[in-house]
Amino acid sequence: MDVTIIGIESSCDDTSAAVIRNGLILSNIIAGQKVHEAYGGVVPELASRAHQQNIIPVVDRALQQAGVKKSELSALAFTRGPGLLGSLLVGTSFAKGFALALGIPMIEVNHLQAHVLAHFIRQSEADDRQPGFPFLCLLVSGGNSQIILVRSWKDMEIVGQTIDDAAGEAFDKCAKVMGLPYPGGPVVDRLAQSGNPQAFRLSKPQIQGYDYSFSGLKTSFLYLLRDELKVNPRFVEERRADLCACLQATIIEILMDKLRRAANDLKIREVAIAGGVSANSGLRKALEEQAAKYRWKIHIPPLAFTTDNAAMVAMSGYFKYLDNDFCPVDAVPFSRVEI
Ligand code: KG4
Repeated sequence: MDVTIIGIESSCDDTSAAVIRNGLILSNIIAGQKVHEAYGGVVPELASRAHQQNIIPVVDRALQQAGVKKSELSALAFTRGPGLLGSLLVGTSFAKGFALALGIPMIEVNHLQAHVLAHFIRQSEADDRQPGFPFLCLLVSGGNSQIILVRSWKDMEIVGQTIDDAAGEAFDKCAKVMGLPYPGGPVVDRLAQSGNPQAFRLSKPQIQGYDYSFSGLKTSFLYLLRDELKVNPRFVEERRADLCACLQATIIEILMDKLRRAANDLKIREVAIAGGVSANSGLRKALEEQAAKYRWKIHIPPLAFTTDNAAMVAMSGYFKYLDNDFCPVDAVPFSRVEI
């Protein structure tokens, strides 16, 4: 019998709905929220309101594009956390109403696990690129930088994580001080392509184990700008591409250094990346270079599955459905929750 799951994602500033049948993606609709651009970051209150406006049209479109009737749905999977509480409340409340009205079970999904499980979404019947267990996943987004040891779809262990800022935050905050629009990551990525990554030296952390830190890099970037601007007020405009190239290269070096060490120590040769920052062209290239050097089998997600999306939520829901892992209708969202 077919298992058809609708996924709902509303943890931050993307409202998304997707339909997956037997692990094969049928639709993945994402409505971004432009309202935050003027503020240089996500404004939680505005995000919740935008989710309220977007959620019903997004779900309608996801069903339409999938060519699936509501009566064909086996279950509904929704992001329970972590994320912004107001945003999560919109998705969770919608999920309850929808599931109760249709008489289908609800499945709670951990947003971080969903990013990892995005690698199991099949895009066609012939798609067999899914990772084998165990593998390491570098999950890098606006709120997280973690190295995760994935033993099975439900057995994941964080072996290293940031002790302060996330990699995406480092991209966004440094972009902001250069006067670039939010979110800064994709803009830095684009500008870095014409810059010299050796032009400036930025600080790299000395942290034990596989943990990360990006706050020192952020401060050294700020100090570089402050000192150079004293000498040349047009410094940022004139050297923007070089600044972006150095920033990106340093973030990638920090990320890859710990990932390489973890893979080596844990003797794991299968490595994936996930989360918004995994869209970064430099990071993708660096992973490919490491793969060639250390003979890793690597998994780089399609761009549509890097940022927040409901296809990964529906995929996680599919695994849980097969495991009879449903949640009660009184489930409440969590803003903070471990993987
Ligand atoms: O996973 P995600 O969509 O959501 C949250 O964490 O909320 O990640 C968003 C982050 C932002 O910090 C954004 O700047 C970063 O991913 N990002 C990138 C790129 N595309 C998105 N960072 C670097 N290069 C990119 N191409």
